[in-house]
Amino acid sequence: MTDRVVLAYSGGLDTSVAIGWLAERTGAEVVAVAVDIGQGGEDLETIRRRALACGAVEAVVVDARDEFAEQYCLPALQANALYMDRYPLVSSLSRPLIVTHLVAAAAYHGASQVAHGCTGKGNDQVRFEVGVGALAPQLEVIAPVRDYAWTRDKAIAYCDERGLPIDVTTKAPYSIDQNVWGRAVETGALEDIWNAPTADVYAYTADPATPRPADEVVVSFEHGVPVALDEKPVSVLEAIEQLNTRAGAQGVGRLDLVEDRLVGIKSREVYEAPGAAALMAAHAELENVTVERDLARFKKTTDQRWTELVYDGLWFSPLKQALDALLASSQQHVSGDIRLVLHGGRATVTGRRSPASLYDFALATYDEGDSFDQSLAKGFVELWGLPSRLAAARNQRLAGQ
Ligand code: ARG
Repeated sequence: MTDRVVLAYSGGLDTSVAIGWLAERTGAEVVAVAVDIGQGGEDLETIRRRALACGAVEAVVVDARDEFAEQYCLPALQANALYMDRYPLVSSLSRPLIVTHLVAAAAYHGASQVAHGCTGKGNDQVRFEVGVGALAPQLEVIAPVRDYAWTRDKAIAYCDERGLPIDVTTKAPYSIDQNVWGRAVETGALEDIWNAPTADVYAYTADPATPRPADEVVVSFEHGVPVALDEKPVSVLEAIEQLNTRAGAQGVGRLDLVEDRLVGIKSREVYEAPGAAALMAAHAELENVTVERDLARFKKTTDQRWTELVYDGLWFSPLKQALDALLASSQQHVSGDIRLVLHGGRATVTGRRSPASLYDFALATYDEGDSFDQSLAKGFVELWGLPSRLAAARNQRLAGQ
């Protein structure tokens, strides 16, 4: 039987050209796999047919939108995952999911190789290859753009030669990667880090400076899972989609960042993630209300480590899995409602209520009904400060000698 290679197929120039090229180079048949993670754009059936027209023996389209929302975006939400305190891991989350589908397709179609269209300068090559290695170490990985110095000009020439049905006339001004969790834009004019992003960079968000009435939304969570918007039940995917629309319309979730890539390069990236930004603002505040102080403090370091592991392509690593267990456990009481005002580019929390609240009005109030025994504070402060006082007394004693 002829060997096969499974290609992560986007429908774009590079991966379309890669079909014929991989077949010639390896002598294997190419199976193209396109995964729908809510990236929108072209119809996936069109993309599937293009893969076949470019010479794939099989072309598969996988609708992984719910899976992506529930198994990748949701853990990121529960980890309040913001790389460098800002970037919600949009592309970093999608690669491990795509990897699971490539590996499954390789087993199903009897392929010994998988291929992706990443360059050698980015994080995504790492995420693909480390992911494949973790799930199916026997598979060989081919990265034509990186390993064979494939350039846009070479790709266009190849298209012309073979008469491939790909539109090569329009060159996108940016490199864009998008899914339901957000959108990443880089290269072009953005490579000069003094250049402000122009309006054409954005697609998920409206200009936050445009005057418009505010929107208000109540987000309900059960055990860290968003389950309703304005009391209407939603799936995780629907929560993200609906908030992408509503928060996006208010310009929420734009960011412009010089980012530390795993390969050592600093790169300029502009992101938009309106739904993620709104959900994360709500989730983080509900944690403030429902998570006990020490767990909350510890969780912050867990969140950050989890985020770095995911950014660095270690989604399937043992440490990431162990941290998943801690994060899942931490969500036990993260249930309740958060009211958000979406306006002027910000998602602002204006109210919280929860059956699992640790906020005790009687303890917190400065008005009538105070149940906090202030006389206990005196002794507490005394003992709390004892180590510092001992050290200070020792220092004075030694200084006086
Ligand atoms: N720098 C981001 C990351 O590593 C986004 C990468 C997006 N990829 C792209 N082809 N534009 O997660």
